[in-house]
Amino acid sequence: MAPVTAGAADGDRDEGRDRDEWRGWRAAARAALYGPGGFYRRPEGPAGHFRTSVHASPLFAGAVARLLCRVDEALGRPAVLDFVDMAAGRGELVTGVLAALPADVAARVRARAVELADRPAGLDHRIEWRTEPPERVAGLLFANEWLDNVPVDVAEVDAAGVPRLVLVREDGTERLGDPVAGDGARWLARWWPLGAEEGLRAEIGLPRDRAWAAAAGTLARGLAVAVDYAHTAGARPPFGTLTGFREGRETTPVPDGSCDITAHVALDACAAARPLPGTLLLSQRDALRSLGLTGGRPPLALASADPAGYVRALADASQAAELTAPGGLGGFGWLVQPVGIPDVLTG
Ligand SMILES: C[S@@+](CC[C@H](N)C(=O)[O-])C[C@H]1O[C@@H](n2cnc3c(N)ncnc32)[C@H](O)[C@@H]1O
Repeated sequence: MAPVTAGAADGDRDEGRDRDEWRGWRAAARAALYGPGGFYRRPEGPAGHFRTSVHASPLFAGAVARLLCRVDEALGRPAVLDFVDMAAGRGELVTGVLAALPADVAARVRARAVELADRPAGLDHRIEWRTEPPERVAGLLFANEWLDNVPVDVAEVDAAGVPRLVLVREDGTERLGDPVAGDGARWLARWWPLGAEEGLRAEIGLPRDRAWAAAAGTLARGLAVAVDYAHTAGARPPFGTLTGFREGRETTPVPDGSCDITAHVALDACAAARPLPGTLLLSQRDALRSLGLTGGRPPLALASADPAGYVRALADASQAAELTAPGGLGGFGWLVQPVGIPDVLTG
């Protein structure tokens, strides 16, 4: 597939004499995150700056491993079962999934990590590290917190009620550019119509739709799953969600490579970019419950029968509660798209 972060967009256009300084957010974030010396190329990796579900608990990788086992059954236990960790960070999820799989399944798994950053030292030799998804995947393609990092342009309504492209300098200063036109305008009209009130903002999710359609399009049979902070039509945030993260704290987004730049994902638009029967959009809470993660406290009787087991079960319960918390990770969206298999998540 084509490199998903490359390609022209309205925000990449020549902005006249200010060309070197003022850029759309998409071009600015792309350089800041993935360019030479970019935020995601730094040695500490994403875990140095924020916690995803993968970092929060090994229970998450365990649940993904159970999902992979269900896909395996649905595919008839093939000789080669693909697992693709899309936007793998430092390979934490794929490592955890391999560790959690039953030996007979692990022995058949072809594990691939797709990531723009370099292969981490010491990664399990069974994991292939690559910058593009493989072709003809038969198994599970899983993208945790990828799409929120696919750079997008930002539109803001001016005093006359016209949505204009937001331009930004490397120090984070913004000004308004040309009216949003072309594919970007069509995307806004379809997915995130802006009212006429000055200051309303929206992120133009088209590059994410295309990125998801290309990545999920590599699936020949099995399941493609995208998990992210999400919103859907009817509940878009009126001023958008563009923000930064640095060393564990939310911060003003500044496209200078010093911080993450992220925005919640219009996951319904991504789903429609690759319309497939059986597509599901559900919360992480519901998805993980379907995979057996409830967050319930262990029975008190266990405390006297098996004190060490009780303490372990309590720790698991508190981690499961974090992964399924409605206002936190549990509120994330799961976009689930099967190809040639029935619903293995909720069915
Ligand atoms: C927020 S981190 C998530 C890492 C991991 N999936 C997790 O949940 O902990 C986003 C990752 O996506 C990677 N990424 C962004 N665009 C990518 C692309 N087009 N191909 C591969 N990796 C990409 C970044 O380099 C970064 O490591």
